[in-house]
Amino acid sequence: MEQDLFRLKEEAVQALQDITAASELEPFRVKYLGRKGGSLTGIMRQLAQVPKEDRPRLGQLANTVKKEVTSLFEQKKEQLSAEKGTEVSAALDVSLPGRRLPRGKLHPVTQVMEEICSIFEGLGFAIAEGPDVETDHYNFEALNIPKHHPARDMHDTFYVSDSILLRTHTSPMQARIMEKHDPPLRYIAPGKVYRCDSDITHTPMFVQVEGFLVDRKVSFADLKGVLTSFLHRMFSDDLSVRFRPSFFPFTEPSAEVDIACVICGGKGCRVCKQTGWIEILGAGLIDPEVMKMVGYDPDEYSGFAFGLGVERIAMLKYGINDIRLYYENDLRFLSQF
Ligand code: DAH
Repeated sequence: MEQDLFRLKEEAVQALQDITAASELEPFRVKYLGRKGGSLTGIMRQLAQVPKEDRPRLGQLANTVKKEVTSLFEQKKEQLSAEKGTEVSAALDVSLPGRRLPRGKLHPVTQVMEEICSIFEGLGFAIAEGPDVETDHYNFEALNIPKHHPARDMHDTFYVSDSILLRTHTSPMQARIMEKHDPPLRYIAPGKVYRCDSDITHTPMFVQVEGFLVDRKVSFADLKGVLTSFLHRMFSDDLSVRFRPSFFPFTEPSAEVDIACVICGGKGCRVCKQTGWIEILGAGLIDPEVMKMVGYDPDEYSGFAFGLGVERIAMLKYGINDIRLYYENDLRFLSQF
């Protein structure tokens, strides 16, 4: 029996050495250490038949062999599972640079709008937003544009019903805010506006920023000062700015504001149609009729207002010649900003 034990031990040690995969472990355990048919268990069963005086010694020997084989088996098991760990880390090179997730950005029009808002906030203007679906009253009537007034032709309006429409400009916010608050007021109102129009300089939806200020003794000089310093901050400090007489039903006097062409610097090019100037916004002193409609006394208060197109400013800032690019959702275009 002693011989059997030594042979079995040698055989088991050899068999363990030959094991290279975790899948071979269980068959080994069953064969040598298994409670039912395992070879070691079989030998230990024979103890009952050996002479009494040899039993303790042989029993001890059998136990030692079993312990040794079991411990070698456990070592092998650990070794294999550690190797499995290194297999994984070989497939995963932790020194490689990570794969970056594509990161979204704000739309260029949103970026420019935020810049415009922050410049006016710096000048003390508060921000207000109003509804895209507007009434005929706020979009036209309250701005001194009665039904059938020829000025309505300037706005190709999307009507929802006779009295409801998609706002064609952000100017309705003048009346909405003045109605609710007493002067002094200094507000800008950014937002989407809609017109039934589409070509390289028009999209059916675009973004405007409306601005106005109402107080005692507000003059055209205040308007010029505020808009000039806005344009200098937006483009550059030495940019030439000019105010040209114009007409809007809700301002009197009215002006359109031009800046020296940012493409050619004023020399004349295709973008400025050889004039050297580019129209950038509409403005004026708030018409006394508009003041009266919201219950202000035009003899006591005066104010100025202006409206600008955000896409247009963004086009000039980035040198883009087709407004539709902003809304085609082509990431190759959008990701440049
Ligand atoms: N609402 C005008 C438009 O969309 C722009 C405008 C012109 C706004 C003059 C004003 C202004 O506040 O004073 O064409």
